[in-house]
Amino acid sequence: MYTAGLARTSPDPDNGRMRVLGLETSCDDTGVAVFDTERGLLAHKLYSQSQMHAEYGGVVPELASRDHIRKLLPLVREVLADAGTAPSDLDGVAYTKGPGLAGALLVGASIGRSLAYAWGIPAVGVHHMEGHLLAPMLEPDAPAFPFLALLVSGGHTLLTDVHAVGDYRLLGESVDDAVGEAFDKTAKLLGLGYPGGPAIAAAAAHGTPGRFRFPRPMTDRPGLDFSFSGLKTAALTAAQQHALDAHTIGDIALAFQEAAVDTLVIKCARALEQTGHTRLVIAGGVGANALLRTRLQELGGKINVRVYYPRPVFCTDNGAMIAYAGALRLRAGQQEGMAFGAQARWSLMDLAAP
Ligand code: KG4
Ligand code: ZN
Repeated sequence: MYTAGLARTSPDPDNGRMRVLGLETSCDDTGVAVFDTERGLLAHKLYSQSQMHAEYGGVVPELASRDHIRKLLPLVREVLADAGTAPSDLDGVAYTKGPGLAGALLVGASIGRSLAYAWGIPAVGVHHMEGHLLAPMLEPDAPAFPFLALLVSGGHTLLTDVHAVGDYRLLGESVDDAVGEAFDKTAKLLGLGYPGGPAIAAAAAHGTPGRFRFPRPMTDRPGLDFSFSGLKTAALTAAQQHALDAHTIGDIALAFQEAAVDTLVIKCARALEQTGHTRLVIAGGVGANALLRTRLQELGGKINVRVYYPRPVFCTDNGAMIAYAGALRLRAGQQEGMAFGAQARWSLMDLAAP
């Protein structure tokens, strides 16, 4: 029997094997995966809308929703076939409930809830950032709790103390732009297109170190919060003061990436010192940045902290992280009622243990 809101149906948090279909539609990627708690990830596929949005220089929400509608069910069919899984083999459906674009979220929520109803299995709505946070656990060398997490995406920059699934304490966050947003805006002003993170990283590879130096915002005062809008403005000022040829674009991209990565590394070092954690997890789209991964790895080596991150395709949005987080919550007995909804704004700190 289903009840409205979250219901607990199982008294045993560790009972049984679970095979879960995961759906991610919070922004511009349609992600689908099947995760099995005994056999691991059985299949995953991603359809990226970024080419469609590139024409507009950023995500157009209405176009995103419509494209999720077109792509989601065909992807579900393909992933189930790849996973050798029939609907009758599934124990649950997990979909991203928030945060994200309301219309895009509603596509995954309505289709996820409907499939679960049709197949007679439970559905669970997953917090997108919890998906990111747990993504390193999809890797063979998964981190154990507790750990410090640096969550860096297009919408969030968070330093979080993680003790267990659902037990998160906020240590610091951006007071303005998220770091991924700063990458995207800086790429746009340099004419590098969307999405900006990979474009900045590629342009920076041809840059000359030392020609520009941008600030490391909020590193000269105590605390673990971030600010990235000033850094973006510094890049804008440099772009306005120079002819934007390929060399200058590379030089600005390099200086921007250096400053952004340095800022994140300084705050991670500070948070590790304050908390005494010996494990650091990096997740979210900016976690795919090669320089950030190298620098945090170097930091870890120096201070004896193990650094964990998912493979790049599981740093950016994907269905596997949603299937995984959903499987943990479903296995603990959490599920949605028959009603479905999207939570476009939703703090990770509002979550509780399943
Ligand atoms: O996690 P994600 O795929 O979606 C959100 O939840 O926002 O993160 C997307 C963000 C974008 O801002 C994108 O520019 C950034 O991650 N990103 C990167 C890289 N790959 C993606 N930023 C820096 N370097 C990258 N290689
Ligand atoms: Zn994301």
